[in-house]
Amino acid sequence: MPKRIIIDTDPGIDDAFAFLLALASPEIKLEALTTTQGNVTLEAATRNALAVLELANASHIPVIAGSVVPLVQPLRASAHVHGESGIGNSKLPTPKSKTIEGHAVDYLIQRVLAEPGELSIFPIGPLTNIAMAIRKEPKFAKAVKELVIMGGAVLEHGNVTPQAEFNIYVDPHAAHIVFHSGVPITLIPLDVTHKCLLKIEHVDRLLKIKSPITKFINDAVEVYLRFSFDHGFTGSALHDPLTLATIIAPELLTFKELHVDVDHSSGVSMGKTFGDFFGNTSKPVNMKVALQVRGEEFIELFIQRMETLAKSIS
Ligand code: RIB
Ligand code: CA
Repeated sequence: MPKRIIIDTDPGIDDAFAFLLALASPEIKLEALTTTQGNVTLEAATRNALAVLELANASHIPVIAGSVVPLVQPLRASAHVHGESGIGNSKLPTPKSKTIEGHAVDYLIQRVLAEPGELSIFPIGPLTNIAMAIRKEPKFAKAVKELVIMGGAVLEHGNVTPQAEFNIYVDPHAAHIVFHSGVPITLIPLDVTHKCLLKIEHVDRLLKIKSPITKFINDAVEVYLRFSFDHGFTGSALHDPLTLATIIAPELLTFKELHVDVDHSSGVSMGKTFGDFFGNTSKPVNMKVALQVRGEEFIELFIQRMETLAKSIS
């Protein structure tokens, strides 16, 4: 049976690639996209979500808009990484499809309470929507099957500050609520996503297939590759798609059960996530954290699935 998932997202180039991977994976049933601010504003994120689903002939999948701003922190958007549009230089037509009425937080609550223990949520942007659902509906935390979160940096350096990873940094207060909610959490941090790099030779291989999908990947990733090269990487980290490896290739990941907390003070380490490796806090384990990955094998899997998807969409 395919795993039923809702992706909570701030598309975002790698977010968009995660949608495509989910759609190309028979192990997954993508139930909905809920959007939030993060890489771009909520409006741009929601437009991008609709446009990418339309590109992949998947407009039947509902999109619901969520949080406009973080819980406490001011709004920030990282156009220098994902481009002004949020999906690099890709020029997707204005989507014909529309969002579902209502707020993503209410949608998440309604869906999860209707089918307790059945729906996994994959937050791949700031955790604002998830934290609001936890706070608004006390039954939510017990009813959601699990959270598979792209976020944090445990032993790895940060990417938005020397200490903090972007999704957690944008809304550290939301992360604190989620981390202490009791929901089963799998964390996919920079420790592993920085080892899953999409390189120019991978894009060149995809371009051998003439398809709107391969054109989109090429146009979208140019901006991201430039940012990545400028920061010493040999390719662009597929942060968000890697969360799906927990379903389609879990053998590629190695996990450690840890108590992980987050600094939500406003100081220099705001957004820093840290694991209690020595048991100093005597606090209970609250998540399993991916600390190792067979990154090249994941990238090969991603490319193969994109090749298959591209051949099906002309
Ligand atoms: O730090 C990487 C994360 O921040 C990814 O989810 C990327 O899309 C951005 O949201
Ligand atoms: Ca993201």
